[in-house]
Amino acid sequence: MTTFKNKAAFVTGAASGIGLAITKALVARGANVMMADIDVDRLKAEMDAIDAPDKLAMIHCEVTDYAAVQAARDATLERFGKVHFVFNNAGVSLAGRSGHIAIKDWQWITDINLMGVVHGVEAFLPGMRVHGEEGCIVNTASMAGHTPTPYMPPYHATKFAVVGYSEALEMELKDSPISVSVLCPTWVKSNIYNASFGSPSKAGQDAEKFKNNPVYESTKSLVDNGMSAEKFADLVMTSIAKKRFYVFNDPEVRPVFDMRRDRILADFDACMADLKLDS
Ligand SMILES: NC(=O)c1ccc[n+]([C@@H]2O[C@H](COP(=O)([O-])OP(=O)(O)OC[C@H]3O[C@@H](n4cnc5c(N)ncnc54)[C@H](O)[C@@H]3O)[C@@H](O)[C@H]2O)c1
Repeated sequence: MTTFKNKAAFVTGAASGIGLAITKALVARGANVMMADIDVDRLKAEMDAIDAPDKLAMIHCEVTDYAAVQAARDATLERFGKVHFVFNNAGVSLAGRSGHIAIKDWQWITDINLMGVVHGVEAFLPGMRVHGEEGCIVNTASMAGHTPTPYMPPYHATKFAVVGYSEALEMELKDSPISVSVLCPTWVKSNIYNASFGSPSKAGQDAEKFKNNPVYESTKSLVDNGMSAEKFADLVMTSIAKKRFYVFNDPEVRPVFDMRRDRILADFDACMADLKLDS
């Protein structure tokens, strides 16, 4: 059973939602946490509100910038000595219809949701291997990394990538003291529905004009009615302690896995049948 007391964690996207709730859950279990985010005003306010100055530090960290993630790692090591848990959690969403999504927006979400995770792993894993103590790399994907829906193709593509990347990473680290977990929640209360206003094609414009839109409204409503971030963070802590790889939070999605597997296997079997016919 993995324990958290007096271990050190690095959490991206720690100023809000899931990352903030994970930070609080870690501190409640005795861990030290470096909170990282691009929204430093919010980060500072949340860190002060937790009021655990011995356990917490914060840093501005743009996860798309590998040098910034390396600098944040160095600051974490300087403050806490070692890092045991890396939460590659910062992420954004982006809705749109294929054929109408700006390529620069695709690049933006890929750089944050996928490369941000890669940067965290590449920056922290070598040091975790060297100190050799028990730890965990926790990548935030989404249920959207298993089941696609229309009108969010860049989000799904990046989250499927994080799931696949995490599965490969887990295999690589199988015989090491470092476990891997991949978070695959459906809706959790947070500010994620505002994230797409930061995309290159919307940045700097009045966010209000994008809000009168069915995709925005339905996403906001689903997130607002989702699981509390605190409840999800508790599940994350339990899952890490038990070295569970996939972390799901929604009983209603179980049949979706069956449908997806059945469809894949039906096409697989059909291809095999066609191959036999051709040979
Ligand atoms: N809330 C949900 O329903 C839900 C469901 C599935 C997965 N997720 C995933 O959970 C993760 C956390 O999202 P959330 O729901 O807590 O949203 P949130 O918007 O409340 O928090 C995300 C945080 O990430 C930060 N951030 C954004 N871009 C960044 C960057 N380039 N560098 C550093 N920090 C950055 C933001 O400032 C914000 O504080 C994301 O990866 C998201 O895709 C959320």
